Amino acid sequence: MGKDVIIACDFASAEDTFRFLDKFTGKKPFVKIGMELFYAEGPQIVREIKKRGHKIFLDLKLHDIPNTVKKSMAVLSNLDVDICNLHASGTCRMMEAALEGLTRPDGTRPLLIAVTQLTSTDQESMENDLLIKEPIDKVVMHYAHNAKKAGLDGVVCSPLEAGKVHEICGSDFLTVTPGVRFADGDIGDQKRVMTPAEAKKIGSDYIVVGRPITAADDPVAAYERCINEFVD
Ligand code: C5P
Repeated sequence: MGKDVIIACDFASAEDTFRFLDKFTGKKPFVKIGMELFYAEGPQIVREIKKRGHKIFLDLKLHDIPNTVKKSMAVLSNLDVDICNLHASGTCRMMEAALEGLTRPDGTRPLLIAVTQLTSTDQESMENDLLIKEPIDKVVMHYAHNAKKAGLDGVVCSPLEAGKVHEICGSDFLTVTPGVRFADGDIGDQKRVMTPAEAKKIGSDYIVVGRPITAADDPVAAYERCINEFVD
């Protein structure tokens, strides 16, 4: 898969999601389904979006004992999603088990990427709540390296970290980056943002864009603007 724009479909129901996707006549954007929509509608929402011809990043961020993650990944693999993810903090053994569970009998599998440290975690909360005393940048790169070592395909990271991740883990290791905003757009609750064009320059492989598209007056035009800046 090459560079692409993934739309974060952060909607509360299937109805809202399909009302949004129906605007894209003739286009099949790559979509991200997160916990809110998945827990509201169950696996059927994945099947329905897949049936409509979209690629799907299922963003459920698994984190449990290796055996449980392995069996759960096998279930997600059967849903025929294109990308799924987990927390790198679940350890290398958990990540390896996840890959095993994800791999189908014919050897194919969805891409598997890791969350390193959530962007909502800062140095202070990492030190005080998690008792991790290293600098957060070092922790993020260490987790990315662990993901690579375990055989994963990439990480979710800030566009600001994408270049460094590629330096450490190689240019083939995927960087999937949220926190994207248009130069003239609202930042909202994101703190460190980049435009699609900047994310392209720094080497992100996929950008995940939510509200700049979903809350736009013309979502299709906003999506095309992202494609023009990031892919073309
Ligand atoms: O609306 P917005 O463009 O901010 O949406 C970004 C999407 O990426 C949301 O679904 C959010 O949960 C997700 N995300 C993020 N930052 C992370 C990981 C995921 O914004 N570090």
